[in-house]
Amino acid sequence: MSRPTPKSFHVKSFGCQMNAYDGTRMAELLEAEGMTVADSADEAELIVLNTCHIREKAAEKVYSDIGRIVKKARGSQQPMIAVAGCVAQAEGAEIPRRAPAVDIVVGPQAYHNLARLVADAAEGRRALDTDMPAASKFDALPKRRRQGPSAFLTVQEGCDKFCTYCVVPYTRGAEISRPWAAIIDEAKALIDAGAREITLLGQNVNAWTGEDDKGRLQGLDGLIRVLDGLPGLARIRYTTSHPNDMSDSLIAAHGTVTKLMPFLHLPVQAGSDRVLKAMNRSHDVASYLRLIERVRAARPDIAISGDFIVGFPGETEAEFEETLAVVRAVNHAQAFSFKYSARAGTPAATMEGQIAADVMDDRLQRLQALLNEQQHGFNLATVGTRCEVLIERDGKRPGQRIGKSPWLQSVIVEDGPAIGELVTVDIVAAGPNSMTGAIVAGQRAA
Ligand code: 5AD
Ligand code: SF4
Repeated sequence: MSRPTPKSFHVKSFGCQMNAYDGTRMAELLEAEGMTVADSADEAELIVLNTCHIREKAAEKVYSDIGRIVKKARGSQQPMIAVAGCVAQAEGAEIPRRAPAVDIVVGPQAYHNLARLVADAAEGRRALDTDMPAASKFDALPKRRRQGPSAFLTVQEGCDKFCTYCVVPYTRGAEISRPWAAIIDEAKALIDAGAREITLLGQNVNAWTGEDDKGRLQGLDGLIRVLDGLPGLARIRYTTSHPNDMSDSLIAAHGTVTKLMPFLHLPVQAGSDRVLKAMNRSHDVASYLRLIERVRAARPDIAISGDFIVGFPGETEAEFEETLAVVRAVNHAQAFSFKYSARAGTPAATMEGQIAADVMDDRLQRLQALLNEQQHGFNLATVGTRCEVLIERDGKRPGQRIGKSPWLQSVIVEDGPAIGELVTVDIVAAGPNSMTGAIVAGQRAA
């Protein structure tokens, strides 16, 4: 049965920053096709649910979202529904079987075909694409558009590490690095479109490797140094990194590249060598702590962030306490922590010793209390410093703006600097989640 081609759309992204990047690229693509961004999800003629599969009942959330959309539309024309992202990749044709309201299923490596899939769905044809083609989707995507002062740029995708708890190697495929020239072109386009900060993204971003314009093999630090030379760009960040890919030259870059911000997200996941081995992490606690020491030697003020999983199968109370000990040893500026969530198809899902929910709840609470305390401590320690803040958005009150410090803290300032302006600020107060800054007079030139 054919239906009108949608004229407006809404993209809702869940999960990681790479998904946020994909969501932005899908929106750019639909706009290039002549569609417009709907004022709200309720008014959109096409809704793209860009899903995440990493933990919890992510797939279930998608189905309840779809149910909600269908219910809301009752009586009027139901919007076209596309399921994109990692649930689309993992569940494929199962999605329209379970939720017949879904018109399109498109995986993370296939969304450059979204416009064709929309046309197919409008004609009443089956619209499912979860291929992982050898040719890059990036080549088929339109040029970057204005997206605000801080932009994401995916340079690497996929994962070959096969941590035993993780779905990413299955949903995002093998590790691939985008070519040098394509990345630099996209960075320049982003800067032309107003970006002042670029965050290089990858599931294992520091595994990026490629040949530069002279045919020399480069690592992520090579890319960072080239970006450092691009006029108009003020800040460079990268995420997420794996400890095993933290090369000497990348560590050194933290001490020498001016635009590289003093922030490193370097997940350790757990603090027991036995658990790390069962996770197939291929690093131990001691090597991780040495790495952190070397990074701090290169850049003493660097803010360290990480990810932690509590309740991995077989984790004992004593092993969990080793995680607390690592957290104490590192002292984080911020971190994410999660209860282990069994993912079908991963080795850990069928391991002995799955941990009871109440034990996981208790461990997560204790870990988060410690991490929150460290984050607040880090924030308090920056009070009294003078730093630059990149203004990103309006605050609640008139004239109030919110930006980011070099250490990725949210900083609230008054006096209405423009979005995209880099202002010099004295940090005057710290909360658990944000800072208050006073703009230094005469320091407003961007
Ligand atoms: N259960 C809980 N947390 C997970 N992560 C990845 N897979 C799982 C899982 N099965 C966490 C890891 C990773 C972050 C992105 O999500 O900490 O670094
Ligand atoms: Fe979620 Fe992983 Fe997919 Fe990102 S790559 S959306 S974290 S499952």
